[in-house]
Amino acid sequence: MEKKNTPVPQTATLTYNGRSIELPVVVGTEGEVGFDVSNLYAKTGHLVYDPGMANTAVCKSDISYIDGENGILRYRGIPIEKLSATHDFIETAMLLMNGKLPTVEERLNFGMLLTENANIHESMKHHFDSFPPKAHPMAILSAMVNSLFCYDRQFQRMIDKDPTLAIDTAAANLMSKVRTLAAYSHRAAQGLPYMFPDPSLRYCSNFLHMMFSEPYRQYIPENEIDEALNLILTLHADHEQNCSTTTVRIVGSAQANLYASVSAGICALWGPLHGGANVAVIDMLESIHRGGLSPQECIEKAKDKNEPFRLMGFGHRVYKKYDPRARLLKTCCDRVFKRLKVQDPLLDIARKLEELALKDSYFIERKLYPNVDFYSGIILRAIGIPTNMFTVIFAIGRMPGWIAQWKELYNDQNSRLTRPRQIYIGAPLTQYQPLTKRK
Ligand code: CMC
Repeated sequence: MEKKNTPVPQTATLTYNGRSIELPVVVGTEGEVGFDVSNLYAKTGHLVYDPGMANTAVCKSDISYIDGENGILRYRGIPIEKLSATHDFIETAMLLMNGKLPTVEERLNFGMLLTENANIHESMKHHFDSFPPKAHPMAILSAMVNSLFCYDRQFQRMIDKDPTLAIDTAAANLMSKVRTLAAYSHRAAQGLPYMFPDPSLRYCSNFLHMMFSEPYRQYIPENEIDEALNLILTLHADHEQNCSTTTVRIVGSAQANLYASVSAGICALWGPLHGGANVAVIDMLESIHRGGLSPQECIEKAKDKNEPFRLMGFGHRVYKKYDPRARLLKTCCDRVFKRLKVQDPLLDIARKLEELALKDSYFIERKLYPNVDFYSGIILRAIGIPTNMFTVIFAIGRMPGWIAQWKELYNDQNSRLTRPRQIYIGAPLTQYQPLTKRK
């Protein structure tokens, strides 16, 4: 990568079949260089081919920054290590959504907005009844978040007249209600009665209360638990153009509303290669614990190209060093286990797997390190979250990032409908033979 502040040429030359064209160069704050191919097809009739969009910058964004070579993640320029040590998830969310950290007064006002918006419409509770018992909470959550649009009259009325007000109000609504809906999707799947949110509790404690309280026995988590969940949410809050965030932007580019767009993001997040990996990690550790494989055998299987198996919670498209979120979560994991005096054989297995992988040439050569999902599942398990809710927690955490990205797209005068192309490799023009009628 070009060094920051090093002057770079303003154009790049692409030569093909004896013809050259100049491509404008786009330079980011930290020196990333991109070649602007947006007019390539119009000028040459040719496309760029980039499966998985691994080399494609789909937008310019000022929300979060990742330096994968050096294991750096910043939200609005602030390193996550600093931010998570001094600010809670809600302040982090406000930073992402509004572009700056809140003043004391803004924080108080937003807290009140969250409280006002925490309850869902009574009629929405009936939607939960239409899901079968044990329905997956991610399916319920995405459906419910999409349905929220039908209840937000303000958004529907105001988006054209006062978009800033409409979007900010919807943002508070989503930030607050995603927590209620997430807790209720768990209770619906378990056949348990719904708990009203408690306005006296902090964001994470309120969520845990709605998850675990019983009609005559309120669950109020210990501080350590609240803090651990708060850290998990903060570290998941945004992560530039990942699968779910780009999904939100793609759906939003068709001018679909904010609720529909983030609901699509929830669906993308569900996949085991993305947010679903935290569940896959626990499945893998449990299977080792049950005696399926030893940690060493598991490593060997992950390296075997004849096996589809991968070491879940390892590797990342962008990080080629230890994921900075995983580093913070590993420390948090040790703290939670020590303070709560809990023991979990899965933690020992995870530590062993990490130790083996980090000295194995296969993982070293491919720069595969633990990612955010490796330790988050173990912490969530220790604080009592059922496994099928892990990705739901990720979705609550990612909500401010999705909102910020949708808002950025909405306010971008140059944004266009996302409409990629393909290289067709199917049959050439084929003579159509009508089927002969049976006699
Ligand atoms: N275990 C074993 N081998 C791996 C792994 C792994 N977890 N990850 C990558 N590789 C190998 C892969 O087989 C390939 O080897 P080769 O060059 O010999 O063919 C090489 O490393 C490059 O892999 P890739 O699939 O081209 O890399 P990618 O950037 O497309 O995939 C990934 C990134 C995260 C999908 C992948 O590392 C993976 O499947 N990891 C396990 C799932 C996981 O933990 N996902 C959570 C990602 S972090 C949460 C988030 O931000 O969404």
